Amino acid sequence: MTATTLITGIGELVTNDPARAEQGGLLGLLADAAVVVEGSRIAWVGPADEAPDADVQVDAGGRAVIPGFVDSHSHLVFAGDRAAEFEARMTGEPYAAGGIRTTVAKTRAATDEQLTSHVARLVAEMRAQGTTSLEIKSGYGLSVHDEARSLAVARQFTDETTFLGAHVVPAGTTPEDYVDLVTGPMLAAAAPHARWIDVFCEDGAFDVDQARTILAAGSDSGLRGRLHANQLTYGGGVQLACELGLVAVDHCTFLSDLDVESLRDSRTIATLLPGVEFSTRQPYPDARRLLDAGVRVALASDCNPGSCFTSSMALCIALAVREMRMSPAEALHAATAMGAAALDRDDIGVLAPGKAADLVLLDAPSYVHLAYRPGVPLVAGVWQHGRPVVV
Ligand code: NIG
Ligand code: FE
Repeated sequence: MTATTLITGIGELVTNDPARAEQGGLLGLLADAAVVVEGSRIAWVGPADEAPDADVQVDAGGRAVIPGFVDSHSHLVFAGDRAAEFEARMTGEPYAAGGIRTTVAKTRAATDEQLTSHVARLVAEMRAQGTTSLEIKSGYGLSVHDEARSLAVARQFTDETTFLGAHVVPAGTTPEDYVDLVTGPMLAAAAPHARWIDVFCEDGAFDVDQARTILAAGSDSGLRGRLHANQLTYGGGVQLACELGLVAVDHCTFLSDLDVESLRDSRTIATLLPGVEFSTRQPYPDARRLLDAGVRVALASDCNPGSCFTSSMALCIALAVREMRMSPAEALHAATAMGAAALDRDDIGVLAPGKAADLVLLDAPSYVHLAYRPGVPLVAGVWQHGRPVVV
């Protein structure tokens, strides 16, 4: 028999369960609730006074419980930092894609052990802040060997790994030769360690035609596509993502009316990364315009050493609410259920029977406090696949 745990005394439970939307709204809220965890899964959700018995009982003391955050966009495999670049930006320098090459040099020089322990530290940092599922990209290796080992390192921490050899063209090669390398030997070495393929489609990185070629090669090798697009300027990346029916297109900071219409008419999720605009002092993406048009929106951290070195999904929620006019409910939904959708996963991001037991206990009576109390560490407990990992 698998042991069961009853978490009861939950003042406010965010389930994200569409079956509870009629009474509980977008977040499927339930007051005075309880959850039963059996092994790695949720076995039961309902009113506390109807809860079944369990082997172990935990009292939430009237506090709120939410699904663990699903961070669908991060670049954790790197060495060094770029604090000096950040400081220069804060005194007037613009963000430029070329800074990536600084991190590439440091990453190539690091040992496997150094990269692995650095990722482990960042993953632990995320978990302590309530992130229970995450995606990790390569993209700071940019050689056959360094991209493959970056993904092998990432795979030790998540199944949601993304080959981003097409992050920027490294020094000493031409764009044409580099695209041949990415779609040839590098892809062959990376594919066994990756589920997804991504391209930085932007001025100074890769254009739409190159992105199309790289995504097609990835698809031929069994990798599913996602895209960095429209981060620094207007361009064709978002429309390419919609045309190809990609699961997600990320950044979406500079969008034309046509881009918004393409997103609205597709199933492609726009993943917004407000930590980037915070850390680059760019204008924030217009989340309200997207949501009002009926576009599906996710939030993620984009944790990386250049454009945004935060691992905090709570910060992303607070920024999305304050600066992007998302409601607290929309922002939390985007950081959990929609993050799961952006990874094409239906087993996480929702608290309902049969789903992963990934839960976060907040030291607060309501999820609204995530935006209402910015910068305050509110995570009092985390269960990941049923195991208490933060207590
Ligand atoms: O998502 N935009 C491309 N890649 C990262 C930044 C990488 C870097 O500056 O090191 C991003 O913002
Ligand atoms: Fe990114």
